[in-house]
Amino acid sequence: GKITSLPGSMADVPKDLLDQINRLEELFTVPADKLKQISDHFVKELEKGLSVEGGSIPMNPTWCMAFPDGNETGTFLALDMGGTNLRVCEITLTEEKGEFDIIQSKYRMPEELKTGTAEELWAYIADCLQQFIEYHHQEEELDQLPLGFTFSYPATQDYIDHGVLQRWTKGFDIDGVEGKDVVPDFEAALAERGVPIKLTALVNDTTGTLIASAYTDTEMKIGCIFGTGCNAAYMEDCGSIPKLAHMKLDPAMPMAINCEWGAFDNEHQVLPRTPYDIVVDKESPRPGQQAFEKMIAGLYLGEIFRLVLVDLHQNPDCNIFEGQDISKLKKPYSLDAGFLSAIEEDPFENLVETEDLFRNTLSIQATKPELELCRRLAELIGTRAARLSACGVAAICKKKNWSTAHVGADGSVFNKYPHFKVRGAQALKEILDWPAGKGKGKNDPIEILPAEDGSGVGAALIAALTLKRVQQGNY
Ligand code: GLC
Repeated sequence: GKITSLPGSMADVPKDLLDQINRLEELFTVPADKLKQISDHFVKELEKGLSVEGGSIPMNPTWCMAFPDGNETGTFLALDMGGTNLRVCEITLTEEKGEFDIIQSKYRMPEELKTGTAEELWAYIADCLQQFIEYHHQEEELDQLPLGFTFSYPATQDYIDHGVLQRWTKGFDIDGVEGKDVVPDFEAALAERGVPIKLTALVNDTTGTLIASAYTDTEMKIGCIFGTGCNAAYMEDCGSIPKLAHMKLDPAMPMAINCEWGAFDNEHQVLPRTPYDIVVDKESPRPGQQAFEKMIAGLYLGEIFRLVLVDLHQNPDCNIFEGQDISKLKKPYSLDAGFLSAIEEDPFENLVETEDLFRNTLSIQATKPELELCRRLAELIGTRAARLSACGVAAICKKKNWSTAHVGADGSVFNKYPHFKVRGAQALKEILDWPAGKGKGKNDPIEILPAEDGSGVGAALIAALTLKRVQQGNY
């Protein structure tokens, strides 16, 4: 309904701002019937992605073909090329069922690397790996260590130790990698440095999350990342993957599918995109790609917020931050999801922390009504992200006829964004018509839980499972 007067401090918000808040409410709110429509369409798109013709969601078979049974043992290296950090781990899966030891080092992923050259990227990664190894190892023991490489971008795989990058996502824009197998160039960079490591498995972070979570909880059926990007993986049976029919695999054999659901609705049929979402897309290095991800993932939440504020500043009807220098706010991607989190977490009725945030980060002195608008806008953007995410989770469960499931989730938005979990649970309830009392997050039929470390332990487990499969002669 339309807001004409607001409780508490919002009561003093002048009419022009109130009109804008109402407009934003309408733009960013996704009601239950829309969620249902989106998730029904999502089911069809998941199926299309598995078909021979294909659809816009890649639904990539990962050649990860088993869940761990908890008895996996051995020492493995895991390399995690995330959006923000590079992490190298050494993981020992111990004799004790479901237990492991881990040592790890984190390296910052320099921003320039994301738009630099392929040589620079592989050189940097190889250098980090070399540093880690020189620090922790004698040379002789090296070639025994299998490596699981978590490469969290859409890649098609004919084997588990190869992957052709379909396209960069999450703001990466490095020439000469898309359409190519990334493994030879990566291995060449290692060989050049005399680092004798053999890649055993190329893994997506969602697949790693699925496997790592299932290692300690056998109810885990989906692995999700709600972080810089947004995506999910689940276990399909080969008989339900028409695009693999020519391989004559046992129809009952499991196959983890990396959905790459960030690409959902690239053809703009159901998602309620706002003019701001359209600008985010247009100004991104890959316009037309990752329509769903661009409305949900951490990389974009602050940017959507920023674009709304710049627009309202220029809008003569309300003119927020009137007379202020908004040059800092005008800089693309100057606000991250952490900025929105901080606003939503401001415990003060009069939003003093938000006021400080605007002053310190953006050199803007916001009025109380403006701060109220910003607070509501952050809630709207954060809520929309959580609710749209739930459409994907619900779709996989519907497709698989799972009325109960555990979903392992990881990523900065899931772990740090306030209320993300409850908002997602509430949306699942609305989509799946759960009875009263459900939809609170705890003990729901479909429960989204914090995952185990997918890109570390998960990648190691997948490497272990791959070696086991090779030993059994099933390559
Ligand atoms: C992007 C990537 C995908 C990854 C996700 C989360 O969507 O394309 O591979 O799983 O981000 O990191």
